[in-house]
Amino acid sequence: MLKNTKTYFPIFKKYPDLVYLDSAATTQRPKLVIDAINQFNSFENANIHRGVYDLSNSATKNFELAREKVAKYLGSTNPKTIAFTSGTTNSINIVASSFLRPRLNKDDNVVITLLDHHANFIPWQMLAKEKEAEFRVVPIDKNGNLDLTVLEKSLDQKTKFLSLNHISNSLGTTTDIGEIIALAHKKNIPVMIDAAQSIAYYDLDIHQLDYDFLAFSGHKMFGPFGIGVLYVAEKWMKNITPYNYGGGIIKDVTIEDTTFSDFPFNIEAGTPNISGVMGLSSAIDFIHKFDKKEMIQHISDLVNYCTDQLISIDKVKIIGNPENRSGIISFVVDGIHPHDVASFLNQDNIAVRAGMHCTQPLLAAMNTSATVRVSFSIYNERKEVDQLKNSLVELIKFWS
Ligand SMILES: Cc1ncc(COP(=O)(O)O)c(C=O)c1O
Repeated sequence: MLKNTKTYFPIFKKYPDLVYLDSAATTQRPKLVIDAINQFNSFENANIHRGVYDLSNSATKNFELAREKVAKYLGSTNPKTIAFTSGTTNSINIVASSFLRPRLNKDDNVVITLLDHHANFIPWQMLAKEKEAEFRVVPIDKNGNLDLTVLEKSLDQKTKFLSLNHISNSLGTTTDIGEIIALAHKKNIPVMIDAAQSIAYYDLDIHQLDYDFLAFSGHKMFGPFGIGVLYVAEKWMKNITPYNYGGGIIKDVTIEDTTFSDFPFNIEAGTPNISGVMGLSSAIDFIHKFDKKEMIQHISDLVNYCTDQLISIDKVKIIGNPENRSGIISFVVDGIHPHDVASFLNQDNIAVRAGMHCTQPLLAAMNTSATVRVSFSIYNERKEVDQLKNSLVELIKFWS
């Protein structure tokens, strides 16, 4: 188990009793990241790319160094494969609108899975409607696993795109994306990975996984809100055209017409979130302090322990039982609405999420409309699971 990881995070100094079990919504921010943002805002603030004075040059240099760092984080040797966006949702919408829209025709299909977050669901659904194409959602089994033979059968000659998440933010199912990407590539289908829930802990090396597009958000990897990444494989970079017009993305503008820069600069119209990029860059430095295998082990130990504790409570039912589960568990308490459970836990300083977690079709397939969700990160400890269990037992006693 990792030790003393709470000490990196100022929030736990201010609230030592906080049991934060909502890292799937957003991870807490370490001091290193907060300091990097403050440093930029206090002493380095200038707009990038268009200034010739020292502060602006230095901001531009650091912004582009961050792009290199993100590329390296994914194992890409080309920083130009990385665009900064406002987050996972924005990155997925860009690919739907800019890459797939011109390639998708009537009667083609686009494939996602039932495990996907609305951010990786609605953009493809809307595009399919617009193009009179088929929107195919690969089902899951009763435990919340994807069956790869079913998925493979969903991919045919009319499939123009496959997009899926690596880790389900509702059930915690961790999918074998390497194998799925290989299956899709055999049929020449480009694949997008929504790595929102895995980017902080998993090795997503492009050379091993060979995804075509990858999206993630800074705030789920110890970084700030409002900054995210879209990775685009070199072979597709020329197919990403601007989705949004404005300054900073052009080669030439005349009254008659405009020509645009190449990816990634052509989708970074307007002033980007520069301090966010500095924060994201230091979030990567923070992650590098740890061994990823140890992080996964730490979280997996907590999840296994928590599963055992929850199972031992009468009236608690865990939703889904995936073969490979990351740091996320959804459950319901018999006769008590998830919002009431979450409010009760809040009185004991336990922060969990309740609702549909932006996965309404998934929860419908699991025969529920809302769950309580606990999600773990490197700063959680076993004793917090015990606190969760004790509170739930109290709640059930109080309610019956
Ligand atoms: C799997 C998954 N995809 C996409 C998103 C959307 O991320 P963001 O709100 O940062 O754009 C989330 C957020 O919870 C998520 O868990």
